[in-house]
Amino acid sequence: MVYSNKDFPALKNDRLLRAATGKEVDKVPVWVMRQAGRYLPEFQAVRAQHDFFTVCRTPELACEVTLQPLRRYEHLDASIIFSDILVIPQALGMTVEMHPGVGPVFPTPLQSPSEIDQLQEDGAVSRLTYVGDAITLTRHKIEGKVPLIGFTGAPFTLMGYMIEGGGSKTMSKTKEWLEKYPKDVHKLLSLLTRVIIDYLVMQVESGAQLLQVFESSADHLTKEQFAEISAPYLKDIRTGVQQKLEQKKLEQVPMTVFAKGGGHSLDVQATLGYETIGLDWTVDPVEARKIVGDNITLQGNLDPQDLYKTPEEIKKMTIDMVQKFGKHRYIANLGHGITPQTPLESMTAFTEAVHEAL
Ligand code: CP3
Repeated sequence: MVYSNKDFPALKNDRLLRAATGKEVDKVPVWVMRQAGRYLPEFQAVRAQHDFFTVCRTPELACEVTLQPLRRYEHLDASIIFSDILVIPQALGMTVEMHPGVGPVFPTPLQSPSEIDQLQEDGAVSRLTYVGDAITLTRHKIEGKVPLIGFTGAPFTLMGYMIEGGGSKTMSKTKEWLEKYPKDVHKLLSLLTRVIIDYLVMQVESGAQLLQVFESSADHLTKEQFAEISAPYLKDIRTGVQQKLEQKKLEQVPMTVFAKGGGHSLDVQATLGYETIGLDWTVDPVEARKIVGDNITLQGNLDPQDLYKTPEEIKKMTIDMVQKFGKHRYIANLGHGITPQTPLESMTAFTEAVHEAL
């Protein structure tokens, strides 16, 4: 059966979208970054049969793992489409492999700025239609239970992976580029920004109801660097998506920016036009609210490591966190992705506690 990106089942739980747009909610909405992931035995079972990027590229498999956490945890108020931020470098022609126990590996990372011209910007988004197909299929299969979030990596974070060839503790090569080739860096960030805007619009066209932009490597940037290397592109993405949705007569969707380690730049983040700002666990909820004001939703921010505590301790910490954020303009989440060894009952304790807190 071919699924259409129209006539989706009606949404039954709109807490996430209400919180993101500043409307009143009956309960604080909750979801978890990487909620479809290795802590779930049913996810491991799919991964035992299929390579990571095969799951991403096969709409039926991506849909299945997206739905897995919803089947197990009745308190989840959102789903996020199963994919990865590194599908964009792939669509630009780079090879990315997922090595178990290591993470993503680029066998041939960018070695000099001259290689930027070899990236295949033309047609990049058309090579990502499998993500749109997964979103459309999932919007049908989810039966309106909760909204479906689409996402992308932000330009600086993607550039870092493309230059380092994988995750890096120091980002030394990327920092060398920032120092030596500032013009080429901006050329690459602009290229990525253009692709990201069209990719996100395609996700909305396919059925995504909220979009999150992951600037996961912001922890490597000073406040000054964040303002120069990250913020302008994040802003262009927010504005670009809004304009293109308008041109295409598509409904606007709320957007979230999550800059991990970007707690030093919440003032700047508040000027970028995003409805929601995601916080990592190092940021104090009360301080964050003071900085961003009352017209932005905050999302976060329990330390994923706290999910290794007892269910009683998790409940206590979660209730404490939710009370600090308050019910208005707040989406509960972790301060980064859930980790592979997290006990299954920790998720129950966390999601239940959010709904019971206020
Ligand atoms: O949140 C979700 O449930 C949606 C799925 C999702 C994945 N990756 C699945 C995944 C999302 C939103 C991402 C985004 C992503 N990918 C980011 C940004 C968010 C963040 O964590 O900061 C980044 C930096 C990546 C790149 C990436 N993908 C890394 C560094 C790794 C290895 C991580 C590790 O712990 O080994 C991945 C792999 C990955 N992406 C897994 C999952 C479920 C685990 C790999 C596996 O199944 O073998």
